[in-house]
Amino acid sequence: MEVKIYGDPVLRKTAKPVEMFDDELKRFVEEMIQTMLIEDGAGLAAPQVGISRRIAVIDVTGGEEEPVVIINPKIYYYSEDKESKEEGCLSLPGINLSVNRSVMVSVKAMDINGNEFTIEKAQGFLARALQHEIDHLDGIMIIDHVSVLQRKLISSKLKKMAKTGRDKSNAV
Ligand code: CO
Repeated sequence: MEVKIYGDPVLRKTAKPVEMFDDELKRFVEEMIQTMLIEDGAGLAAPQVGISRRIAVIDVTGGEEEPVVIINPKIYYYSEDKESKEEGCLSLPGINLSVNRSVMVSVKAMDINGNEFTIEKAQGFLARALQHEIDHLDGIMIIDHVSVLQRKLISSKLKKMAKTGRDKSNAV
């Protein structure tokens, strides 16, 4: 699968819920997981591979544990306590930004078979990854979380990215 880069309109759409939990979905999720591992990402959302559906995969263990698959996820608890940490995004190669997010979140989602499950009070990197990936399902990217000044500093990089797609020289 090819990862879509900033400038592709699919990254800005609100993704539609998954309704069919069939073999096609299983194959698609398996391919997403492979793509995430190949690209060395901690997470990947379906719009990032051009499919506007509410699906994301997360691996904050560097391939040590089974990835978390969340379908039609909803964050139902955000801690008031927030912190800023650097984040990157496979759709914004070469850009790292400090993003302020809740340190703890709880998420309700469906698994690959359509069964509901909850991730209660996720913390640390997992909490951050959940918020980052679920943002993607609503067309939100890390550049939307930073100040006008910070965004100005990267605006020429973004313009270039939108024009040329993946800029290999800047990829990290
Ligand atoms: Co991302």
